[in-house]
Amino acid sequence: MKINRLVAIATLAMATGSAGAQELSKGEYLSRASDCVVCHTLPEGHPYAGGLKMSTPAGVIFTTNITPDAETGIGRWSFEDFDRAVRKGIGKDGQRLYPAMPYPSYARLSDQDMLALYDFFMKEVKPVRQRPTPNELSWPYNMRWPLAAWNWLGTDAGAYKPDTRFDAEWNRGAYLVQGPGHCGACHTPRGFALQEKALNETSGAFLAGGNLDNWSAPNLRNDLNTGLGRWSEEDLAQFLKTGTNRHGTAFGTMRDVVNYSTRYLSDADTKAIAKYIKSLSPSIDRTEPVWVYDNRTTEALSARKFDAPGAATFQRQCASCHGSDGKGGGGLPALAGNPAILDPDGTSIINVVLNGAHPLDPAGLPEADWMPQFRTFLGDKEVAELVTFVRTGWGNRASAVTPADVARLRRDTELGERTVILQMR
Ligand code: HEC
Ligand code: HEC
Ligand code: HEC
Repeated sequence: MKINRLVAIATLAMATGSAGAQELSKGEYLSRASDCVVCHTLPEGHPYAGGLKMSTPAGVIFTTNITPDAETGIGRWSFEDFDRAVRKGIGKDGQRLYPAMPYPSYARLSDQDMLALYDFFMKEVKPVRQRPTPNELSWPYNMRWPLAAWNWLGTDAGAYKPDTRFDAEWNRGAYLVQGPGHCGACHTPRGFALQEKALNETSGAFLAGGNLDNWSAPNLRNDLNTGLGRWSEEDLAQFLKTGTNRHGTAFGTMRDVVNYSTRYLSDADTKAIAKYIKSLSPSIDRTEPVWVYDNRTTEALSARKFDAPGAATFQRQCASCHGSDGKGGGGLPALAGNPAILDPDGTSIINVVLNGAHPLDPAGLPEADWMPQFRTFLGDKEVAELVTFVRTGWGNRASAVTPADVARLRRDTELGERTVILQMR
């Protein structure tokens, strides 16, 4: 049973190598590419049995059981029922689903792929009897009708149509990014109704950086500093396949994306995604001078000159792993020139310093090298100075963060729960 392996894969070493795309049926492969498991499964829970808590501005909602159990899951759903939920965001009883489920992206899926997905859920997923937890929404959001208006804002023209100006590989990449991969659900800024501001490359807002769940998902366009302008297609494909490359590593919610989804993609598909994303124009920092390594930070730290606020804390708490030169190495990410650190929004960097990071591959790095959490050791002012130091050292030129930013994130991440919070940017 392929599905039983999921739990083992989720909790044990993730990187025991290439989880072969070849082993998966077409439907399971699509489920991986769409990352259905990440939301519809509790940590340590039965795959696809739901129950994950998601905070939204409207209140708390829980993901549903999408195993084929007839009583508590989707066992009695026809293909049409399933299709309407996944591509249109309409539940079996005609109720609108909350957009925490990324149906504006899934609307792009092709008819054949929907059939394969349905087949997988009905025939390959093990039925699990587990009643969905009722949502805790506040008025007026417990009335589902305003979502009809939201749908109008948030969804678009239906299944992906190839753009004949580009080749098959580009189109495959565009399909995977806009559709199953729902990269824009995190990486595209959201507007006043929390709708994604763009759903494809025709707008400069597409993948220009967004906020979700107390993480900032950085700009993936070709900006040289704050985007992927300095990444080659190979760098990007490697990041999706392994979660790491010479520029940085996947952390925060991106770690789950790599572990549960993109690492299962075939080499051809990660290449296609890279080709498509690298074809996007830069969004903002066209005129900014490109980042170059500046050795003065390294020299000052080596000479124990701690004039810059945060420098002494960096040397004491961080240099042993990330290096006084900010270059990382040996499985540890570089901080110098890392676009996630140059992100105009400091949320992810504050979050990772406060709360640490589980390694991508727990077996790949000795436990002593895991990114620790510092929330109990460092105060708001210390963290703010430290993060600002990291964002401005070694030639990095990102904005300062304030103690108030740190205090807010400390409060919002207190419970350490995996929740999804749609945020406006
Ligand atoms: C980012 C999180 C997320 C992802 C990814 C996700 N879902 Fe959902 N899904 C939800 C939430 C939340 C709900 C409940 C929405 C509500 O109650 O209005 C839901 C509801 C559903 C429902 C309706 C179930 C019911 O009982 O009404 C179906 C079917 C479904 N999802 C299937 C899928 C499939 C198939 C995939 C992958 C292609 C997927 N979901 C990916 C969050 C997610
Ligand atoms: C659930 C939210 C989420 C989804 C979905 C998501 N990402 Fe991310 N991504 C993030 C976050 C948060 C970060 C910042 C942390 C990091 O750099 O790993 C990130 C970082 C990245 C980075 C590194 C960028 C940098 O500046 O260092 C790349 C590349 C990336 N994502 C590509 C993708 C692609 C391609 C997809 C779709 C297949 C995708 N992401 C889907 C949340 C997400
Ligand atoms: C014991 C080793 C260790 C120490 C000490 C450490 N880190 Fe980390 N750090 C890591 C590892 C490992 C990762 C990668 C996590 C992942 O990708 O799963 C990481 C990731 C990061 C990231 C995200 C960058 C990226 O691309 O992954 C930032 C920012 C960061 N650390 C900053 C700091 C700061 C600031 C300090 C000092 C307060 C610090 N770290 C101390 C090991 C360490």
